[in-house]
Amino acid sequence: MTTGTLPAGEVRTMFDRIAPVYDVMNRLMTLGLDLRWRRLTAEAVVRPGDRVLDACCGTGDLALAARKAGGEITGLDFSPRMLERARRKSPSIEWVEGDLLALPYENGSFEVATVGFGVRNVADLERALAELRRVLVAGGRVGILEITTPTGLFAPFYRVWFDRVVPLLGKLLRGGAAYSYLPASVRRFPGPGELAELMLAAGFDGVEWRTFAGGIVALHIGRAT
Ligand SMILES: C[S@@+](CC[C@H](N)C(=O)[O-])C[C@H]1O[C@@H](n2cnc3c(N)ncnc32)[C@H](O)[C@@H]1O
Repeated sequence: MTTGTLPAGEVRTMFDRIAPVYDVMNRLMTLGLDLRWRRLTAEAVVRPGDRVLDACCGTGDLALAARKAGGEITGLDFSPRMLERARRKSPSIEWVEGDLLALPYENGSFEVATVGFGVRNVADLERALAELRRVLVAGGRVGILEITTPTGLFAPFYRVWFDRVVPLLGKLLRGGAAYSYLPASVRRFPGPGELAELMLAAGFDGVEWRTFAGGIVALHIGRAT
């Protein structure tokens, strides 16, 4: 299944361009809740001493949360500008330029893999899940935090927020025009049940999810079989 409509090179260029405003936009878009969601993701899957791959690490906030939970972290991303910002936050974490769709690691290299707001952007979601499974040890854990589309009471508010307010905020910040891409990328992405099915098909079991903020964000966890 292909979820991204932009070629990988364009996605990378887009994130390079967004990098200077990325953290500010996260805080504004989520009213500061994003840090809590990353903390809960890390706490759900990371145990002290685990080797953790945070793929699509961006500016590093989920990797930092995973370290706080006791992991030994490798952060990987294909955008050099996002990685630059991550490095500034913590020079001691290993930050690697690389592609989630072709991870530069041997099978079974990590106890935990996390991805925060990243899988929505990849050109081939099934391949991304298979790569995450491949680099985990059997019994290893995955945590995927991603924006999703709520149903029910919250849906109209969500549509206004993502379709109107977020692109507008993006336009006001230098380099943020690419945020007009966000609503489309969320709409294209599978819902929580479908993502869980894809995780099962990729070799994870015990797949569960919980949602935050009225169903705007979903955390999926699973165990490598
Ligand atoms: C929305 S940001 C998320 C950053 C961070 N995980 C967070 O929690 O804020 C998505 C990141 O995924 C990266 N990315 C997208 N596709 C990728 C791929 N195939 N391989 C590596 N990184 C990728 C982008 O460069 C970008 O930094």
